[in-house]
Amino acid sequence: MHKGFALWFTGLSGSGKSTLSERIHKRLVRAGARVELLDGDEVRTHLSKGLGFSKEDRDTNVRRIGFVAELLARNGVIAITAAISPYKETRDIVRSRIGEFVEIFMDCPISVLAERDVKGLYKKALAGEIPHFTGVSDPYEPPVNPELRVDSSSEKIAVSEERVWQLLKDRGLIPLSW
Ligand code: ADX
Repeated sequence: MHKGFALWFTGLSGSGKSTLSERIHKRLVRAGARVELLDGDEVRTHLSKGLGFSKEDRDTNVRRIGFVAELLARNGVIAITAAISPYKETRDIVRSRIGEFVEIFMDCPISVLAERDVKGLYKKALAGEIPHFTGVSDPYEPPVNPELRVDSSSEKIAVSEERVWQLLKDRGLIPLSW
């Protein structure tokens, strides 16, 4: 019916990873797919409880998510992930282990994220109250060649959803009839 693969969202906090991944997850469930969503915040309360935001801890977190995604994908399940996953090398290691890997880069300028600031974290980070905050006081290495780049500051979410859906069809990962 469909392939096992990883749909890997990457991008800064507040860039729309959770929102878009949830929409794709729901749509796949409705279509009857075997799919799991590994959301960054949820992973950190279970699989990665106790890890912080040093490079080492983030890499451990991302490798764990990658490991679970690998197990799911090789059993024919679609694994959607939504963690910042800021380091290119670590994402590429995970990519190399998973046969089918679709990377979606949620691109949004810091100025827009700081303006929206849904969780109130950018205000604190910019005031120097959160050390090592991604995009402010900690690095984010954007993908060089993602399968899809979404400009989430300007693109409507429904349009982004369609583009992801079409991409999965174009790559033969889900049926054209979906
Ligand atoms: S990752 O770098 O290890 O991939 P992850 O996606 O799990 O990050 O967690 C990011 C979320 O943790 C953010 O959306 C935000 O709510 C919260 N957070 C807390 N501290 C930080 C920080 N220093 N940098 C980035 N996000 C942080």
